[in-house]
Amino acid sequence: MKVYLGCDHGGLNIKNAIIEYLKENKFDYTDFGCYTEDSVDYPEYGYKVAKAVTEDADSLGILCCGTGIGISMAANKVKGIRAAVCTNEFMAEMTRRHNNSNIIALGGRVIDEPTAVKLADIFLNTEFEGDRHTRRVGMITAIEEGTFEL
Ligand code: RB5
Repeated sequence: MKVYLGCDHGGLNIKNAIIEYLKENKFDYTDFGCYTEDSVDYPEYGYKVAKAVTEDADSLGILCCGTGIGISMAANKVKGIRAAVCTNEFMAEMTRRHNNSNIIALGGRVIDEPTAVKLADIFLNTEFEGDRHTRRVGMITAIEEGTFEL
């Protein structure tokens, strides 16, 4: 499985901590930046990672900004993306098990580096449960595609 990462200046510290974890655990990853603390625009990085994840079926994404919110909003505008802001271990686990999220979004001004690494670890190592959740995720896709009917 491939991992795509991106961040803005507000998420750089936690992205770098996660990259150390990925290296230690021999993950195949691509980091789309940013690479310094100079101020940048988070939608650019959300878009780059979201595009990469939609073009690679065997991949997951990790996005980091100050809160995780703005960069997840940008990513969720790309068709096929289910990006979830997570602030604790339960959210990181459940968004894989129930939502089949393909991107986790984390906030460098919300959680510390060890927590970010732990949430990334849980996210990357938890499988989608399927069953009734497949139907619900399918409904989200139908809303996205304009085919959802009540
Ligand atoms: C950048 O200052 C900040 O707005 C950004 O990192 C993020 O928190 C937006 O949602």
